[in-house]
Amino acid sequence: MSSEEETSSPSSASDFIGKKEDIVKAGRVTKLVNGCRDVLVLHHHGQLHALDMRCYHSGGALQYGDIEEFNGRLCIVCPWHKYKITLAEGEGLYQAVDDPTAKPLRTHWRSKGVKQRIHKVTEVNGDVYVTLNTSTEKIESDVYQTEKYRAVSHKA
Ligand code: FES
Repeated sequence: MSSEEETSSPSSASDFIGKKEDIVKAGRVTKLVNGCRDVLVLHHHGQLHALDMRCYHSGGALQYGDIEEFNGRLCIVCPWHKYKITLAEGEGLYQAVDDPTAKPLRTHWRSKGVKQRIHKVTEVNGDVYVTLNTSTEKIESDVYQTEKYRAVSHKA
C-alpha cells in the first residue's frame, strides 16, 4: 500500500517508523512494528511502501532486493531466488509459458495471488507510521514472522 497524506493522528495501532526525510535518504528501513512484526519500509519514486521484511518463499532478506517493473507493476525482487513481489498488493508474479514445445517460447506474466503481507503507511507532518495489516486471512509471509526467524535475521 502506498503512502497517503493525512491530517488526523494515526490510529493507536500505528507505530512510528521515522522522519520521512530520513527514510527517503536511506531508501529503506526495517523495523519491528508494535513489538511483533518485522516490516520493511521503502521509498521509491516518491511513494512509501511497507511489507513483511522476509520473503514468503524462504525468508529472503527483501531489504536487499532490487525494485523493478514487470508487466507494468512495481515489484521488489528477492535477492535469494529472484521471486517478484508487487509492492502494492504483495502478489507473487511469474512468467507462464503458453506452449513449452513452441519455438520461440512465448511467455506472459501471471499472478500467484497475494503471498506477502502489505501494511499501511501513513505520513503525518513528515512523520511516517506503519499500521499493521491484521487481516485474519493467512498470507504465506506470515510463516517468517516468528522469534526463530527474528533471531536469525538479527545475527546476520
Ligand atoms: Fe525469496 Fe526465495 S527466499 S525468492
